[in-house]
Amino acid sequence: MNKQRIVTITSVTKEAPGITTLRFHDEIKVKPGQFYMVWLPRVDEVPMSVSYTSVEKGITVKEVGEATRALGKLKIRDQIGIRGPYGNGYRIPKGTVLVAGGGTGMASLLPAVEAIGDPGRVDVLIGAKTAGEVLLLDRARKASREVHVSTDDGSMGRKGTVVDMVQEHLEMKHYDMVLGCGPERMLSALLKACDEKSVKCQLSLERYMKCGAGLCGSCVIDGIRVCREGPVFSSAELRKMKEFGSSKRDECGCSVKL
Ligand SMILES: Cc1cc2nc3c(=O)[nH]c(=O)nc-3n(C[C@H](O)[C@H](O)[C@H](O)COP(=O)(O)OP(=O)(O)OC[C@H]3O[C@@H](n4cnc5c(N)ncnc54)[C@H](O)[C@@H]3O)c2cc1C
Ligand code: FES
Repeated sequence: MNKQRIVTITSVTKEAPGITTLRFHDEIKVKPGQFYMVWLPRVDEVPMSVSYTSVEKGITVKEVGEATRALGKLKIRDQIGIRGPYGNGYRIPKGTVLVAGGGTGMASLLPAVEAIGDPGRVDVLIGAKTAGEVLLLDRARKASREVHVSTDDGSMGRKGTVVDMVQEHLEMKHYDMVLGCGPERMLSALLKACDEKSVKCQLSLERYMKCGAGLCGSCVIDGIRVCREGPVFSSAELRKMKEFGSSKRDECGCSVKL
């Protein structure tokens, strides 16, 4: 899986302005929550969650800089390099599950929602800045009992954050596990909300990744490699991490505040 493979884009879906799903054929099995290192020749190699884990794989890319903008311009029959899958992925929970995704975090979470295989025991909460950035809604509806949306500007669903909705749901219903992925400040608030109600969670972190394979140390948080031991961590693991929710490392390895 460390071997670079060149794959051909078979479909391009514009999910929202600046957010694109690229599909391609790859036989190597992927667990929900794992990621690829995606290489664009002469541009860069960047980590991307696998948003479709069947043989026809997919990544869902938000344009934020040079590499992601270049990925967003690709067309059917263009080629990219992939390494992986890397990382541990989610442990698919038994019992009732609350899933909370912020921004492109839904790309990592939806394969886990589908792998649960029983819409009757999963509720999904999607948070976004604005209506146009609410991702993968139809797919979430098919695989779950209820889907609720919040936007920062109130243009879709309720006005507020996904963590507000999580707090309300944990008040109203019993859940055995919460799965979450999104910006780290959101995840930090999510862990607090789950701890207050004594509900276990698994949260997927993003850190600066160079090798993706546990070799370079660029993704380390409190001495733990996010690319290898993560990106998905349990509540118990996250509670021990002093850097979680407060600082990360930049491309030079310097610690910067979140
Ligand atoms: C495990 C993991 C899964 C991810 N999944 C997705 C996904 O499904 N969809 C998606 O749109 N984005 C995802 N990202 C974020 C994505 O990797 C960055 O947005 C991308 O690398 C930015 O590159 P750029 O050249 O476009 O932007 P740049 O201008 O180079 O960087 C913009 C910002 O992106 C982050 N970034 C840049 N390079 C890296 C890197 N090598 N590793 C981590 N962060 C970086 C930094 O915070 C930086 O400030 C994921 C990141 C990780 C670690
Ligand atoms: S990215 Fe190199 S060790 Fe994690």
